[in-house]
Amino acid sequence: MENRIIKHAALQLTLLVVLSLLTAACYRDNAEELYPQVPGSGNCDLSNVTYQATIAPVMASSCNSCHSGATASGGVVTNTYEGLKIIALNGKLYGSVSHASGFSSMPQNGNKLSACNIDKIKTWIDAGALQN
Ligand code: HEC
Repeated sequence: MENRIIKHAALQLTLLVVLSLLTAACYRDNAEELYPQVPGSGNCDLSNVTYQATIAPVMASSCNSCHSGATASGGVVTNTYEGLKIIALNGKLYGSVSHASGFSSMPQNGNKLSACNIDKIKTWIDAGALQN
């Protein structure tokens, strides 16, 4: 009789352990589903970054208002490939948008670009700042 009670208790304990392991596993799965975005990585798609499709639109929305034509601020032109290539290759483009020390932070008086857009700019520069 006493033996049976002990067996029963042992079985219940085993069930409890198995259940809590299952619950822990489920919890981990859910956490991954709920928080897929790790800042600076994760779902920023850095494949197929091109000047035309990726970089030029970012310049148009955040930079060209001050950096176009003959009156471009600081003599920096971002609305043409030729102008942008100069600051892409001399380090000023990435330095300014990443707010690195030694560079003027850009966009001036505006919000810093998203981490994803900054990563895209870096990807484009690292690939040679091509007119693609
Ligand atoms: C509201 C106007 C404004 C906007 C928007 C703006 N800039 Fe500028 N930018 C300036 C001015 C003014 C200067 C010159 C003074 C200075 O260097 O801070 C300048 C200078 C620069 C320089 C030269 C910095 C250096 O260290 O020599 C770079 C590179 C630059 N901008 C890139 C950008 C890029 C890229 C963007 C978009 C992400 C942008 N700017 C958006 C006004 C702006």
